[in-house]
Amino acid sequence: MSISAIRYRPGLLELLDQRRLPREEHWIGCVDVEHVAEAIRDMAVRGAPAIAIAAAYGMVLAVHRGVPRARARSLLLAARPTAVNLRWALERLDKVSDKRIEAEAKAIHDEDLGTNRAIGMHGASLMPPGNVLTICNTGALATGGWGTALGVVRSMVCQGRPVHVYACETRPYLQGARLTAWECQREGIPCTLIADGMAAALMRERRVSAVIVGADRVAANGDVANKIGTYSLAVLARFHDLPFFVAFPRSTLDLRCPSGAHIPIEERPAEELTTLRGVPIAPAGQRVWNPAFDITPADLVHAWITEDGAWTPESG
Ligand code: MRU
Repeated sequence: MSISAIRYRPGLLELLDQRRLPREEHWIGCVDVEHVAEAIRDMAVRGAPAIAIAAAYGMVLAVHRGVPRARARSLLLAARPTAVNLRWALERLDKVSDKRIEAEAKAIHDEDLGTNRAIGMHGASLMPPGNVLTICNTGALATGGWGTALGVVRSMVCQGRPVHVYACETRPYLQGARLTAWECQREGIPCTLIADGMAAALMRERRVSAVIVGADRVAANGDVANKIGTYSLAVLARFHDLPFFVAFPRSTLDLRCPSGAHIPIEERPAEELTTLRGVPIAPAGQRVWNPAFDITPADLVHAWITEDGAWTPESG
């Protein structure tokens, strides 16, 4: 039980085009690194671990086509700046020869599923009884399978626990409405969609007993960069006395980054806010601020969950 959105065979990377979900399941084929970088930048593939896997295969395609590694590296790194998993994957490939690079990229892909299952297991053991609130898509679509935050919910469902996930629609790109709702429907995970502005009322009515989110980069001090709106949920969770969990693979931890203040935050095109499916919803020429991520300070986090287990402010 878990969708796979990334397929590779020598010379061809295929990606389930997440821009077109849930309306159609369309796969795009990438044969060169330029196309992979474009797919990452334009969000055909998204979610930190999935970006890392795609970038790894992009580097393989570059090597096979004789593109200098340094050029491929800078193309891929520039595609999306916040998810550190991308850099992690490229640094892992830096350590292997051209001959071994394809095997190493496949290993990055294959290992991700096991990593996520371990995150799911550790996370499920921590979650209080009751429903959970999440944001963005952190499921199989965002990873090599299973998922991180949504993977924890998937693990709870597999254990037969009576859990229901509330998914924030995740303005402006709507990963929650388009992707999480689709994935949950497909895979039998009970899910209710809410608009982002409904989270406070949901908590006040005690319809959820925890919040769980993924991460694009976790700084050495525990600050978390994740989808815009995550910080609001953390503040709301603290106000309503609900635990706020963050689930991510070790490859999301950036020990070179001392705090959230050092994490580069991607800003995305104004049209993501001023239009809906190409239809204008704001006056022409409207000025916009559209950061794709925000920083949740470590002191709002109840526990950080990885494949190695969980750590809490008390465990240090
Ligand atoms: O802009 P996106 O859709 O790539 O943002 C994704 C997120 O913010 C996820 O929460 C994060 O990458 C973790 S995915 C397992």
